[in-house]
Amino acid sequence: MRRLMCIFGLLLPFAAHADTSKGEHLAYTVGCVNCHHQTDKHIINAPPLVVITSYSIGEFRRLMKTGVTKAGRDMASEGSVMGFVAKEQFSHLTDAEVTALYNFFRKEWTAARGVEEEKKIPIYFKQPQSKVDQQQ
Ligand code: HEC
Repeated sequence: MRRLMCIFGLLLPFAAHADTSKGEHLAYTVGCVNCHHQTDKHIINAPPLVVITSYSIGEFRRLMKTGVTKAGRDMASEGSVMGFVAKEQFSHLTDAEVTALYNFFRKEWTAARGVEEEKKIPIYFKQPQSKVDQQQ
């Protein structure tokens, strides 16, 4: 039995890592990082994802399933895109997927990582020279 516990203890760190890397995979594929950090703020003004460190798992689960914030604001009823994607997309995430996302944002996401992603905005959203000329 003790040997079994030892093996389990050895495997646990790998299991934890598997969970955060699954969370990272989801964060990039379902678009959290794209909307929150890689899109021009004039198009989508989403707050830095580091805000999730102030969420409990229960509050985060409610946010993903219903679009209601930690403070109780119902974003879908306010016409906010985050409310729509929560209701129409993230509500389909399994409990394990929500937990994996949460663990990734709590353990591996940092404000600095968000800033790194935001450096891509001027590259993706560069205006054609003709538009720049018109504005001058
Ligand atoms: C289509 C773009 C879009 C996608 C995709 C998106 N978000 Fe958002 N998110 C927003 C916008 C815009 C806001 C600000 C909405 C508001 O304040 O009404 C927001 C707000 C939030 C907030 C702040 C809520 C608060 O307390 O005020 C959190 C946390 C959040 N999103 C997490 C996520 C996570 C996690 C994902 C991925 C699973 C995600 N978002 C995907 C656009 C998006």
